Amino acid sequence: MKNVKGMIKDILTKENLSKEDIVFLLNSTGEDSIALFKKSAEIREKYVGNKVYLRGLIEFSNICSKNCLYCGIRKDNKKVKRYNISDEEIIDAARFAYENNYGSLVLQSGELQGNAFTKRVETLLKKIKKISDNKLGITLSCGEQTEEVFQKWFEAGAHRYLLRIEASNKELYKKLHPDNGLHNWDERYESLNILKKTGYQTGTGVMIGLPFQTVEHLAEDLLFMQESDIDMFGMGPYIEHEETPLYQYKEKLLSLEKRFELTMKMIAVLRLMMKDVNIAATTALQAIDKKGREKIIKLGANVLMPNITPGKYRDDYALYQNKPITDEKAEDYKNFIEAGIKTAGCTIGYGEWGDSLHFLNRKKLDNV
Ligand code: 5AD
Ligand code: SF4
Repeated sequence: MKNVKGMIKDILTKENLSKEDIVFLLNSTGEDSIALFKKSAEIREKYVGNKVYLRGLIEFSNICSKNCLYCGIRKDNKKVKRYNISDEEIIDAARFAYENNYGSLVLQSGELQGNAFTKRVETLLKKIKKISDNKLGITLSCGEQTEEVFQKWFEAGAHRYLLRIEASNKELYKKLHPDNGLHNWDERYESLNILKKTGYQTGTGVMIGLPFQTVEHLAEDLLFMQESDIDMFGMGPYIEHEETPLYQYKEKLLSLEKRFELTMKMIAVLRLMMKDVNIAATTALQAIDKKGREKIIKLGANVLMPNITPGKYRDDYALYQNKPITDEKAEDYKNFIEAGIKTAGCTIGYGEWGDSLHFLNRKKLDNV
C-alpha cells in the first residue's frame, strides 16, 4: 500500500478521477491540500490563463415565489422587506458597469413566473443592450422558467444563465426544499437542459456544508457537473439564516472555517476535472473570510461578481446571515479588488465578456 504522499501524487496526475479519488482530495489536509491547490492553479493558468472576468451583479428584486428551506428571502419569511428596483435604477447600475469596463452584468432576482415578470426582464435586457451599444454581456439568474420564456430572454440579449442545482443528490435536495411541485429536482434539471439547448452558456452549482450533506454527496456533485457538460460554475459555502427552517440544524454544521476550506477544495477539484470552464468566486465566501474570493481566485476561479446593486437595497437581499454589504461600486473597492486579484497572480479582463471556453468548445463540437 502506498503512503499518503504517494497517493496524492498519483491522484493529481490522473486524467479521470473516480469518486474515491475525489473523496480523498476533499478530505485532504496540510501538505496534501497545498499540493492540490498548486495543481489546480497550474491547470487554470494552462487552460484558461490568468485573467479574471468581472460581472457586475444587480440583485434587482428579492420577491420570490419559492420557499427553499435554507434561504433568507424565501416567500414565508415575513420579516423581509420586499423590494423591486425601478428600471431606471437598474439601467443606472448597468451604465456604471459599462462605463467602468466590467464587460458583463448579472441580473439576479427571486423566482417569479408570469407575463408581467417575463415582459419586464425582456424590456430590461433590450434597454441594457441599447445603452451599452450591445457591448455589455448579460447573464440572467431568475430561476426556473418555461422554454418559451428562456427563448424570449435569449432573443432579447441574455446569453448566459445561472441556475444552481443546489444539490445533485435527489434525496438531499428533498431535505432542503418543501415537498411540492414548485421544488422539483427533475424539473430543475430539465431547465438546465433547456437552457443549453436554447443556446445559453449555462451555469450551475451547489452549496457546500449543508445539513445532511456528506463528502460523498459533494464528490457526486462534482461528477454530476462533469457529466452534465455545463459551462460555468458558482459554488459557495452554505451559511445559516435564523429565519429559515434549516436553522434548527445549526449545531450539526461544520464550522464556518471548515466550510470555507471544503469550498476551496471543491473548486480546486472541479478545476482538475473541468479544465476549460468558468468558475466564479462567490459572495458567500466573502462572508466567512474577507480575503475569501481572492484565495479562491488564486487556486483556480476566473470570474468575480462585484455587487453593484444600489446601496439602499443591499441589506434586504439577505439569502444568508453576515452577507457583506460593502458598496462594491465605490472607487476604493475597485482598488481593493484590483489589489486582491494581483496578489492572486491574476489580471482583470476589463471590457471583455470572458466567455466560457468550455462553451465555445462545446459549440465547435456541435457544428462538426
Ligand atoms: N447560504 C448560502 N447560499 C445560499 N443561497 C441561498 N440561500 C443560501 C444560504 N443560506 C444560494 C443558492 C441560490 C443562490 C442564489 O444563493 O445556491 O441558488
Ligand atoms: Fe427563492 Fe432562490 Fe431563495 Fe429559493 S434560493 S427561496 S428560489 S431566492
